[in-house]
Amino acid sequence: MAASRTRAVLATLGVLSVCAASRSGPVTEGETGGEAEWAEPWDGAVFRAPSALGAVGVARSPETLWPGREEAVDLPVLLWWSPGLFPHFPGDSERIECARGACVASRDRRVRRDSRTRALLFYGTDFRASEAPLPRLAHQSWALLHEESPLNNFLLSHGPGIRLFNLTATFSRHSDYPLPLQWLPGTAYLRHAAPSLQERAEWRRRGYAPLLYLQSHCDVPADRDRYVRELMRYIPVDSYGKCLQNRELPTPRLQDTATATTEDPELLAFLSRYKFHLALENAICDDYMTEKLWRPMHLGSVPVYRGSPSVSDWMPNNHSIILIDDFESPQKLAEFIDFLDKNDEEYMKYLAYKQPGGITNQFLLDSLKHREWGVNDPSLPNYLNGFECFVCDHELARLDAEKAHAASPGDIPVPEPHIAQPSHMDCPVPTPGFGSVEEIPESDSWKEMWLQDYWQGLDQGEALTAMIHNNETQQRKFWDYLHAIFLKRNQNL
Ligand SMILES: *[C@@H]1O[C@H](CO)[C@@H](O)[C@H](O)[C@H]1NC(C)=O
Ligand SMILES: *[C@@H]1O[C@H](CO)[C@@H](O)[C@H](O)[C@H]1NC(C)=O
Ligand SMILES: *[C@@H]1O[C@H](CO)[C@@H](O)[C@H](O)[C@H]1NC(C)=O
Repeated sequence: MAASRTRAVLATLGVLSVCAASRSGPVTEGETGGEAEWAEPWDGAVFRAPSALGAVGVARSPETLWPGREEAVDLPVLLWWSPGLFPHFPGDSERIECARGACVASRDRRVRRDSRTRALLFYGTDFRASEAPLPRLAHQSWALLHEESPLNNFLLSHGPGIRLFNLTATFSRHSDYPLPLQWLPGTAYLRHAAPSLQERAEWRRRGYAPLLYLQSHCDVPADRDRYVRELMRYIPVDSYGKCLQNRELPTPRLQDTATATTEDPELLAFLSRYKFHLALENAICDDYMTEKLWRPMHLGSVPVYRGSPSVSDWMPNNHSIILIDDFESPQKLAEFIDFLDKNDEEYMKYLAYKQPGGITNQFLLDSLKHREWGVNDPSLPNYLNGFECFVCDHELARLDAEKAHAASPGDIPVPEPHIAQPSHMDCPVPTPGFGSVEEIPESDSWKEMWLQDYWQGLDQGEALTAMIHNNETQQRKFWDYLHAIFLKRNQNL
């Protein structure tokens, strides 16, 4: 196992910060390469008075923007506990105006214990049980933004992990602020014309395979390479990424990911030569769909897909992608792709959604129409700001409900707690891409890495719950456990 990977695993466990003297901040394994190096703005030792928020923290505004509110009220504060995600510039605190009223968004950790600080916002990728802000304060909501797959953090795929939070924005339609279509700019993107069949037939004659695979992140929870390797025995696949590579992209510029990003027009034109794209997500979670699915559709290639089990709910019509799991074996799938490859009429049915009126899925159309944020659309807010306002509005409503209860406790009950649910991050235990888990040797890197990560996520969640509830027995057990793992890993380094 690579040393860097071990580090990442240890960081996931919180072991680096617990058992090792020095620590180098959160280690993330992002497919986009967005390595977060977030400085800790506060050493945690001193608590400064609430004036840290300065003028932005108090609404002493003469212009009564929200009739009914007091003239001089302290605005609720939303503290971004993951400061690297703070969506404002410059400064550490900013007044935000939302549908229900105003809040102060801050990344200044000194306000953490302030009574006005009503919500803590976390980014899932670098949320670590050992770094959680404890003790948890009863008046504060915890809000989670995690649009990524559990590849970065399996803690949140378990009940005890996700239920730590009150509000969520995840890829799931069930989350409080859902982001399932985070990679789909809109219907025009889907309608983009496909190259002609003649053009594609010409590429096939020149020796190109019917299927393309382009993946450089090889060892992932979904274990996709194991399936693709098997499929390659039955049908030609041109593979250009680092995983199962058997071909080079045509020019040095395209080969260099630094010069040709995945949105590079020349690269996209090249990829569109292929009639089918293998599109396998890095993890299997309900509603987790990425550019691996939408980009081939944009290019007019048919995705051969494995990912969200409910992907069909979001497709433009009921005949636009090929689902790997509909086939009993890679061989059967290969036969079907070969059949479509030789039968233009049947193949073209998969691109019918590009015709006028071809997008018939009303659920998809409504979801695109009603989401308030945009994808690569400067005219719309992004979902980071959108979620921030969602939390602000939620907290203003919660304050109002608390005030109403305080005013007439006999008539108006205490507001119900709002707690996130496992459906907000529904990623079951990883299974092998091909074959059964029993057939795979214990030394297999996928088994060693992802199955362990998955169950360690559960341990973290349970440990954190215990710490919040001050269960010392459970806590001690957890630290002993971490220590044992640390020693074991250290021996293997
Ligand atoms: C797909 O939709 C069409 C038109 O609504 C319908 O006639 C057909 O039965 C559907 N096919 C499947 C496999 O659901
Ligand atoms: C937030 O969630 C926790 C469970 O993790 C719960 O105990 C608490 O009451 C919730 N708070 C609010 C304000 O809903
Ligand atoms: C602490 O956790 C353990 C193990 O989950 C449980 O058996 C025990 O009842 C808990 N103790 C308290 C005081 O909640």
